[in-house]
This record gives sequence, structure tokens and C-alpha cells, in this order.
Amino acid sequence: MARPNLHPMLVLGLETSCDETGVALWDTGAGLRGHVLHTQIALHREYGGVVPELASRDHVRRTVPLIRDALAAAGALMSDIGGVAYTAGPGLVGALLVGAGLGRSLAWALGVPAIGVHHMEGHLLAPLMEPRAPQPPFVALLVSGGHTMLIEVAAIGRYRLLGDTLDDAAGEAFDKTAKLMGLPYPGGPALAAAAADGRDGAFTFSRPMTDRPGLDFSFSGLKTQVLLAYREHAEDPNVIADVARAFERAVADTLVTKCRRALAETGVRALVVAGGVGANRLLRQLLAEAATRDRFTLAFPRPEFCTDNGAMIAFAGALRLQAGLHDGLAVHVAPRWDLASLPPLDGEQGAESGERQQPASSLPR
Ligand code: KG4
Ligand code: ZN
Repeated sequence: MARPNLHPMLVLGLETSCDETGVALWDTGAGLRGHVLHTQIALHREYGGVVPELASRDHVRRTVPLIRDALAAAGALMSDIGGVAYTAGPGLVGALLVGAGLGRSLAWALGVPAIGVHHMEGHLLAPLMEPRAPQPPFVALLVSGGHTMLIEVAAIGRYRLLGDTLDDAAGEAFDKTAKLMGLPYPGGPALAAAAADGRDGAFTFSRPMTDRPGLDFSFSGLKTQVLLAYREHAEDPNVIADVARAFERAVADTLVTKCRRALAETGVRALVVAGGVGANRLLRQLLAEAATRDRFTLAFPRPEFCTDNGAMIAFAGALRLQAGLHDGLAVHVAPRWDLASLPPLDGEQGAESGERQQPASSLPR
């Protein structure tokens, strides 16, 4: 049985799963002490998407200097670090290995525990870093470049998948739609900015899968609708803005419909939204209106913690390390990793952690 660690601990968090190098220090007593980020957007822009090999190499260059920066921001020394958390999956295998290899070895050198964090658990728990954070039970909408999931969170680590995308993730749909209209990578912010100049009602796209029961999503068909509308009105100087506005509205409406349905079906009264698309202003506004109408509590991370960052990894790792869990000495990453397989932190541990997430009593020194 894992033994909880009740002493305050400074946890270093490393996020290198995709195209952002994020480093942060979370103090289990004082909260966030430092957080720094390097985004690779400029590096990948000319290719129109993330080039995995370039991503890994850039993480190699950036992570150590960023650790120094985060320590300086926190006024802390390397020797103050009491635990290391790194994203172990899901993500690009080469990129994950940079943070995992560095994090695991640093923890070994310092003689402190290390833990591999599930990237989506990081996103999902990010709203809990904010003051007056909601506590479980809540429903989480995770909307990122790789995922669109509705999850019932009964306790931290106890996750039930309610709905998932059958094809493109919401962020991926933004990215692909933006790309086919010639907008730069990453498409989400670019498309949202274009939509601000669009006219309501110039185009109308469908709200996929809202006309039938269930909580799954499908966004790939919207691309075809966009392409047809865009081609047909290519001469119109306002076509990009108008199409972007209709597309953003269709995605946001669809997400809101499914969130309301998930809350109604589970009887849960709180919704937490996380992941890059959670930074979208229209989505935030429509969900806030739904929360007032349906009387549920709504929580978002601040926008900088919606997209990838080290703080959410430090925080999620700190919760697990404090519960007495840690990983073995092997550097282990999981490019695909089921969120529901994580051990819960509400005292009723599943016996499935195996080689991973062992109790602290077996900590190698
Ligand atoms: O969570 P995240 O930073 O990385 C992943 O784990 O995927 O999410 C990135 C995704 C990208 O698809 C990006 O286009 C989208 O989030 N995104 C947005 C906005 N900001 C980022 N989508 C819509 N509106 C935004 N404001
Ligand atoms: Zn992410």
C-alpha cells in the first residue's frame, strides 16, 4: 500500500510531449513557484505542422536551460527539488523520451522520486491549480490537438470515459480547417482570430452527431463542408473570416450540446474544461451562458494553462508523489496510454500499477 508523503515537496515538472517545452516548479505547500515555456511554433510553421524529429531535437536544446530559468524564477536550488514529474505519454515518442530521460536521470542523481505523468491527466487537473478550484465529482471536457473527450471524474485518478471523437479531435479540426484556407499553423488561434471579422449567418455548418443520443464526437465531416463553401465563394474577399466564424460556431455549439448532455446524464453539477481548444473565447462564452442557464459550476484553467505547459505536469505529478506513488528506475514512455488505466488516488488503489507507479517505500536510493 502506498504511503502518503505529508511533508511539503518542491516538484519539478517537465512537459515535452509535442511542440512545447514546458518546465515548472510546484510547491505542495506554497503552490506554483515558477513556470517557463518555449514554444516551437516558429520552428514547425514552414512545414504546416509538427515535424517529430525537429521537435525532439529542440526539446534536447531547451530543457536544461529552462530548468535553470524555472529554478531562478522560484529562487530555488537544484538541491531543493524533492520530486520530478515528466510527461510519459501520450505524445510523440522521441519528444517524450527527452523529458522522461532527463527527468528520470535527474531524479536519480538527486536521490528523489520520479513519476511519469499522463499528459491528459495534466490537462484535466490544470483547473485545480486555480484558487477556488472545484473538487471532484465533476465532468471534464478535454479538447486538445489530439483529443476530444468527456470524462466523469469521481475522484482524482478515477476517470470514466463518457464520450470520445470518432475521427478528428476538436483542435485537429481547427488546425486542418485553417490549413485548407491557407491560415498558418497552429490553426486554432489563427482561425479564431479570422472568425472575429466574420459575419454571423453568412454560412451555416452542421453540428455533427448532436441529432442522436450519445456523447461521442465526429469533426472530420466539417472539413469537407468548409472546403466546399470556401471553394464556391473563393472570389468573396470576406470568405475566410465568414467561413471561420461559422466553423468556430459549429464546433463550439457541438461541444456545448454534448457537455450539457453529459451533465444531465451523470447528474454531476460541475464542468471543468481543459486542453488547447479551452482557450477559445467563443467556447468559453457559450459554456458560461449554459452554466448560468442550467445552473452548473464551470471552471477553466487560465488560458496559458489550457495549452501545453509544465505547471500542469508538476501539479499532477505532485499529487501522485504526495500519495506515495512513483515510477521505477527504467525510463518508460507510452505514446498511447489509456487514461482509465491510471491508479486512483482516493485510497482504494487498483492493484494494476505493476512496475509503474510503485509505493515510495521501494524508492531506489
Ligand atoms: O492542449 P494543446 O496545447 O496540445 C495538445 O495536447 O494537443 O492543444 C493544442 C490545440 C491545437 O489544435 C490548437 O489549434 C488548439 O489547441 N487551440 C485553439 C485555440 N488555441 C489553441 N483552438 C481554438 N481556439 C483557440 N483559441
Ligand atoms: Zn496537450
